[in-house]
Amino acid sequence: MQYLVLPSELESGTVRVPGDKSISHRALMLGAIAEGTSHIEDFLTGEDCLATLAALRAMGVRIEQVSGTSVSLQGVGMHGLRPPRGVLDLGNSGTAMRLFAGLLSGQKFSATLTGDASLSGRPMKRVITPLTMMGARIESDDGYPPLVVHGRPDLVGINYTLPVASAQVKSALLLAGLYARGETFITEPATTRDHTERMLRAMGATLTAESRRIRMPGQQTLRAADIRVPADLSSAAFPMVAALIARHSEVLLLGVGVNPTRTGVIEILRRMGAEIQLENARMFGEEPVADLRVRASTLRGIDVDPGLVSLAIDEFPILFVAAALAKGVTRFSGLGELRVKESDRIHAMVRGLKALGLTVNETEDGAEIYGGIPAGGHVDSQGDHRVAMAFAVAATRADGPVRIADVANVNTSFPDFAGSLRSLGVDVTEREPGA
Ligand code: S3P
Repeated sequence: MQYLVLPSELESGTVRVPGDKSISHRALMLGAIAEGTSHIEDFLTGEDCLATLAALRAMGVRIEQVSGTSVSLQGVGMHGLRPPRGVLDLGNSGTAMRLFAGLLSGQKFSATLTGDASLSGRPMKRVITPLTMMGARIESDDGYPPLVVHGRPDLVGINYTLPVASAQVKSALLLAGLYARGETFITEPATTRDHTERMLRAMGATLTAESRRIRMPGQQTLRAADIRVPADLSSAAFPMVAALIARHSEVLLLGVGVNPTRTGVIEILRRMGAEIQLENARMFGEEPVADLRVRASTLRGIDVDPGLVSLAIDEFPILFVAAALAKGVTRFSGLGELRVKESDRIHAMVRGLKALGLTVNETEDGAEIYGGIPAGGHVDSQGDHRVAMAFAVAATRADGPVRIADVANVNTSFPDFAGSLRSLGVDVTEREPGA
């Protein structure tokens, strides 16, 4: 699938982007091992979360999609998951694979986790090493998927400092730690999203978290909860930047999650001169939410503070686009983790921006981007949903038509992304290659 985007004047409007991907995965996994029935509203029906849903069903969890984005699941309790019959195919989802590695480590059975070509190239030693220390046995292809997780009912809690800032690794250890004897202590090198910690508390678990150190007793039980999933800030970032780089536009993004471990993108854009206001601040359970009012702004280049990277980890493709449309030079550093996301995002973005005639220098852990006007042309998303969406936004301000190849994976996180852009007046069509 490809996008063809024509230069477009963005209109003002109101957009509700789909539910948060990280929270949707966690609601399913934690709800599955809780006691009682959990109801999830505004669940993300993107392919990544549907892979988690299918995997849980394969382990005997009854999950009903009540209507489009409304899900009810009957928890089976901590020890109620059943051995799956076949392999669990997690598609493109690193979150599903790493969190399941943790959850399955505490089970009395073995299970095999596979994924698509991109997921098969993503490093898993970061979860295998600490989960092995807890007592699980995990086979892999030299640290890469497929993983065969041999669960152990007698896991032990560990005291572990994460070598890389990763909410996925932290969450895997918390899931395994729920089953372990003794306490689990986790220290993070930088703050990462804390949705697992918040949802564990909402489901009655005990844990403390202070200055990047988490302490959680093992052998806990969870109780079902009703969870309303905020709109995903990582998806909202695309119409947000589209509005900022437009000539004239004011876009209101409704009900967006503004958990402070996720709002690095807003902070970075504001430092570039963006006008973004948070309105109607409220809580959906443990998660802060607001409506975001975004006005077309004159962005200027900055040196992006590497201290904000872990708080904006998924937003760098679209931040590169904001930088490309800003006045002056923007320098990004400390982005080494981007090389092991759904694609090598530094390289994919630099290549695409160059293909649109912009001046960009790639560095080992970032890029230097000179603001300008993109030319029309052809870019390849490398099968990465966020790279595809970032270029669709850049294309609204290009000099000519932009064709973006390999965009089917946008469905992993933002079903009907093209429809959302069209609702703001963007001329985007989806077509099969060669059409
Ligand atoms: C996620 C954590 C991040 C992020 C990913 C979702 C999560 O990955 O990039 O999209 O839900 O925990 P890392 O843990 O690899 O940083």
